[in-house]
Amino acid sequence: MPAHKIPFGQPLLDQDEIDAVTKVLGGPILAHGSVCLEFEEAFAKRVGVKHAVSVSSGTAGLHLSLFANHVGSGDEVIVPAMTHVATAHAVEYCSAKPVFVDVDPKSGNISSELIPDQITKNTKCIMVVHFLGLPCDMDKIKAESDRYKLFIVEDAALAVDALYGTQKAGSLGKLGCFSFYPIKHMTTIEGGMVTTDDHNLAESIRKRKAFGYDHSHQMRKKPGIYDVPVLGYNYRMNEVEAAVGLCQLTKLDSRLAIRKQNYSALKNALSEIDEITVFDPIQGKAQSSCYCLNAVLPQNGNLNRDDIAAELNAQGVGTSVHYPGPVPMMTYYKDKYGYKSGQFPVAEWLSAQTISLPVAPHVPNGFEIQIADTIKGAIHKVRKKN
Ligand SMILES: Cc1ncc(COP(=O)(O)O)c(C=O)c1O
Repeated sequence: MPAHKIPFGQPLLDQDEIDAVTKVLGGPILAHGSVCLEFEEAFAKRVGVKHAVSVSSGTAGLHLSLFANHVGSGDEVIVPAMTHVATAHAVEYCSAKPVFVDVDPKSGNISSELIPDQITKNTKCIMVVHFLGLPCDMDKIKAESDRYKLFIVEDAALAVDALYGTQKAGSLGKLGCFSFYPIKHMTTIEGGMVTTDDHNLAESIRKRKAFGYDHSHQMRKKPGIYDVPVLGYNYRMNEVEAAVGLCQLTKLDSRLAIRKQNYSALKNALSEIDEITVFDPIQGKAQSSCYCLNAVLPQNGNLNRDDIAAELNAQGVGTSVHYPGPVPMMTYYKDKYGYKSGQFPVAEWLSAQTISLPVAPHVPNGFEIQIADTIKGAIHKVRKKN
């Protein structure tokens, strides 16, 4: 019998979110209101940037970041091979070409060494993804982007409060994009935020997330009257989501501290298992916000990740995979661009041989022992079978 059921992720909502949502729902304004603006201000302060623009999802934020910078047909954007498809999809939405780069085996982050080989006269932007909350090698990547006059978009979907030196993720590039999906560090149910120090860009994104209206509802002199100077989408966050986000922000410090403690406890427990490697949550100037812990199995060993994950699941431990395949190996990208297996060896290994384990605040005391013991048992079983 499983000792405890430990889901991989769980939304953490309390009475204060319910009260805040009830208050908004009882009022007349559910969209285009002041709660979103309040949330944006608080989030910008937290990240240490001048502007934050709330959006309907992390993906919408990524799309708008490229769209507002006029990325389009004929342009190329550098993207890590190991990420959620949303990062690359944002490039496709703009009719530009994602150019994939393999990742570093010690962090899962885009390899700063391999980026220069992929820069061409068509390259416009480098999208960095802070893999599972660990900031990328930003000094090198920034030097490269300055050299070729590119701009950087940070996909910080899993990196709320991650640090690079004293700076937070989301303040390291021209734009930062966050996701508030239910099991992220903080949630608004669905939702996201774009952060930047660039006033004009923030204003452009604000327009483009709401059809391209020249005046927001608050700024209209005559109700219902507006012009549309640019193309835009309907990518707004609503007031209910923003109310949840404001509550979640107040709990972020304590929840992040728990994640870090849990990561360290689980890393320690897994250190007894020779077959498993765990990324260091602090690497150089980068400090991870510890979204989850990826247990990495050997590349050429006879341990099958799926067997071990199945055993963990049977024992009540929820697992996930980050990510299920290098994005260029996903059918859409493979068919469109003709990528072949073997082109992204590190991303291929990590996606095939890692198990994502929970460290969020919902895990019970002693979870690390339960997980480590289950993995030891599973490895023993697999070895006996072979
Ligand atoms: C790295 C990364 N980028 C973007 C996204 C997409 O975020 P959303 O679901 O809010 O659109 C995710 C989702 O998990 C992600 O992991």
